[in-house]
Amino acid sequence: MKHPVFAANWKMNHAPADAEAFLRVFLAYYPKTQDRTVIFFPPALTLGAVHNALKDRTDIKVGVQNVHWEDHGAFTGENSAAIARGAGAKYALVGHSERRHVFGETDEQAGKKVAAAIRAGLTPVVCVGETLAQREAGETIAVVARQLRAGLAHADAAHVATCIVAYEPVWAIGTGKTATPSNASQVHLAIRHELRTLAADRSEAVPILYGGSVNKGNAEALLAAPEVGGLLVGGASLDAEGWSGIVRT
Ligand code: PGA
Repeated sequence: MKHPVFAANWKMNHAPADAEAFLRVFLAYYPKTQDRTVIFFPPALTLGAVHNALKDRTDIKVGVQNVHWEDHGAFTGENSAAIARGAGAKYALVGHSERRHVFGETDEQAGKKVAAAIRAGLTPVVCVGETLAQREAGETIAVVARQLRAGLAHADAAHVATCIVAYEPVWAIGTGKTATPSNASQVHLAIRHELRTLAADRSEAVPILYGGSVNKGNAEALLAAPEVGGLLVGGASLDAEGWSGIVRT
């Protein structure tokens, strides 16, 4: 039996008041359940409001969309993993494709950010994915494996076993183009193989999420595919009623 993870990446959307209004609707649609994990990744400025609005809904978790690799210091504008933890975060996205492609983050930085998240007691969600050009050049598996190894470069096997991996093909993010369940599965199998080389049997516990234009219409088929352990959803997570439908897939 799968215990799927449903992660909402709100990106740069929803102020604290919007998030509170969202949760009033969402929580009414989504009663407490133990058979799946729901995680919200609000903007850092909204994180505390989401954490507070969830109150006794300890079945629902909050995460931060990005962290700096240092714990504290003179890094104006950056988010510390330790501070995010203090504000209620339990998870951290690391190496999201927008961080890599819009802000120029490198594989090496992703590795240091994963280490910072682990030090702060956050579960890293390590994002990997190829561009369209890389897919067309037949480089998908090589790119994803390289990003994964670099992202987990400073994590020992015990820590690898507590991470989450998200496969998000860059060409599928926010484009309306989704990987077919079998395409996603193929890459997830390769990720699982790579995880075994890093953490042997313990790696079986690592959920591998799919992300990229997931919606109510394709969620069920993607989730049913082998090695798809959950979904990381951007656009379709912004509407409370729509998102409540996806998390009940
Ligand atoms: P999307 O975004 O669902 O809007 O494609 C996914 C993501 O970037 O995590």
